[in-house]
Amino acid sequence: MKRAVFPGSFDPITKGHLDIIERSTGLFDEIVIAVLDNPDKRPMFSSGERCEMISEVVEQMETGNCALKVDSFSGLLVDYVKSVNGQVIVRGLRAVSDYEYELRMALMNRHLEPGIETVFLMAAEEYSYVSSRLLKQVFQLGGSVDRLIPELVEKRMRDKQKREKE
Ligand code: PNS
Repeated sequence: MKRAVFPGSFDPITKGHLDIIERSTGLFDEIVIAVLDNPDKRPMFSSGERCEMISEVVEQMETGNCALKVDSFSGLLVDYVKSVNGQVIVRGLRAVSDYEYELRMALMNRHLEPGIETVFLMAAEEYSYVSSRLLKQVFQLGGSVDRLIPELVEKRMRDKQKREKE
């Protein structure tokens, strides 16, 4: 039984993240999508809201024999991975610019826990420029983010923006 953890901030989940999840389903028996609970970073969505959105979005995904779970975590990622008996951390790579940050994280995690392997998957080219940070910026400045995030997520972003303006 190969259990992988796909960790991230997912604030919010993008189609780039979904692409990586879809690719992972062909490789593992179970994938735990692990949302970092990071209130200090003042995220747009609480970790509860992010988990809820992810669960709703992945519910519609064709996953074959792979089980998908959604959870949140705080503290060290490797401690979380051990707590769920995971063997692998999955991360997506978009461009060469991701590599340095990802390499440092993967090596630090290996230093902390040599038994856990990090596996990188290449994101689809059409999402290679998509990041949650840029999406939020474009959205907040009134630009269009459709086709880059699931419809449900865009609706939640619009609802949140409306509530904040009230
Ligand atoms: O989506 P992100 O923000 O790039 O994800 C980063 C994440 C959550 C994978 C990373 O910040 C993380 O693992 N945080 C937990 C703290 C930790 O374990 N730090 C040491 C690893 S370098």
